[in-house]
Amino acid sequence: MERFATFSTPQTIHYGRGAFREVGKETESRGSKALIISDQIMNDLGYVSECRDVLQKENIESTVYLGVKSEPTDQYVAEALEIFQKEQCNVVISLGGGSCIDTAKAIAVVATNGGYIGEYMGGKKIAEKKPIPHIAIPTTAGTGSEATDATVINNTSNDVKMMIKQPSFMPDVAIIDPLLTVSSPKSVTAATGVDALSHAIEAYISRKKQPMTDMLALSAMEKIVGNLKPAYEDGNNMDAREEMAVGALQAGMAFTNASVCLVHGMSRPIGALFHVPHGFSNAMLLPAVLEFSKEACIERLADLGRLFNKDANSLSNEEAAEMAVSSVKKLCLDLNIPNLKGFGIDENKFEQAISKMADDALNSGSPQNNPRVPSKKEIEELYRVCYSYDFSSEKSIYS
Ligand SMILES: NC(=O)c1ccc[n+]([C@@H]2O[C@H](COP(=O)([O-])OP(=O)(O)OC[C@H]3O[C@@H](n4cnc5c(N)ncnc54)[C@H](O)[C@@H]3O)[C@@H](O)[C@H]2O)c1
Ligand SMILES: [Fe+2]
Repeated sequence: MERFATFSTPQTIHYGRGAFREVGKETESRGSKALIISDQIMNDLGYVSECRDVLQKENIESTVYLGVKSEPTDQYVAEALEIFQKEQCNVVISLGGGSCIDTAKAIAVVATNGGYIGEYMGGKKIAEKKPIPHIAIPTTAGTGSEATDATVINNTSNDVKMMIKQPSFMPDVAIIDPLLTVSSPKSVTAATGVDALSHAIEAYISRKKQPMTDMLALSAMEKIVGNLKPAYEDGNNMDAREEMAVGALQAGMAFTNASVCLVHGMSRPIGALFHVPHGFSNAMLLPAVLEFSKEACIERLADLGRLFNKDANSLSNEEAAEMAVSSVKKLCLDLNIPNLKGFGIDENKFEQAISKMADDALNSGSPQNNPRVPSKKEIEELYRVCYSYDFSSEKSIYS
């Protein structure tokens, strides 16, 4: 740890079955007219009208933006901001997956600090004015975005997924209700669950880890390792859904304070250029990147291996770390995660993009937090390995 560490969270976190209804009281104390950032699927599921009904009981007016159709772009931010201003709203509620939450984070900051959202990347523009109050309600388990001070927005002019991190992007309130995740289809449960696992693992092995994040990352890994497959196999398994929701929240709290590493650094460019859902692109990279990083974080990966298999207590750290990698591979296989080739990405197009993706990964700063810091050439090689990575093989990429 550096000389001292800083740990940030939302002011208030409500979590557990039925927590959703807390949105009324929390909004009432922060504003009188809410803009709800959501999407058509949430609307069709009845979540948006349920939210508006709860708000109405507290005499809060609301208006809705349902334009989030995929992972967020600067265009969604501009559209929703226009509604926010035209309707004279004074509080933002996000209701959906990470895409809705990240869009709302951008609106909350830009509404008071102005400018183009991309200007906030890399601290070129600092949000000095207090943002609009933001209440985040995730429906996936998940990005953990409800408890992070980062937003990831696609720049539509250069196909870069902009990772923007400043304290002002932290939501004021997070409401995590596992009942909202039950409607998640299998592929969303798998992708978002591996995203949460990647957050927990990356926070645990990050060069910026600290005691507060270790505690959360370990608990998150344990919950996700034990409950992702059961939640995937039976979406109505409420106990598994609840553990996943809390695990994803803990993973978010861990990585926002410890940073993510190489998996996320390499994953964002794949999402931006080939439109692979964020959780899938992480999963496609995770086992190979763990193999690459293993020697630099043997003890930490051994802890993960022992969570997958309680009988691994008698194994050496080297063997338990090996077990972590093989167990993550097996989990990806059980969740039917395709590799990049299996997802349908053209090999020539992928090869042509590798140099830009490696540059974009390094420019994001995340690979530099990895226990083994890669060169550009090593990142390019890893992209090639992951293109046709075999999750069913017991062989290491280095054997
Ligand atoms: N800000 C952060 O800290 C952070 C961290 C990780 C990821 N992200 C970002 O989050 C985005 C991905 O978010 P996500 O993985 O939650 O997916 P998502 O928000 O893109 O949602 C994926 C799909 O699942 C649907 N869906 C969501 N919840 C559902 C439910 N309960 N029932 C039925 N359908 C549901 C959505 O409508 C959408 O079609 C990416 O842009 C990623 O970069 C941000
Ligand atoms: Fe992520």
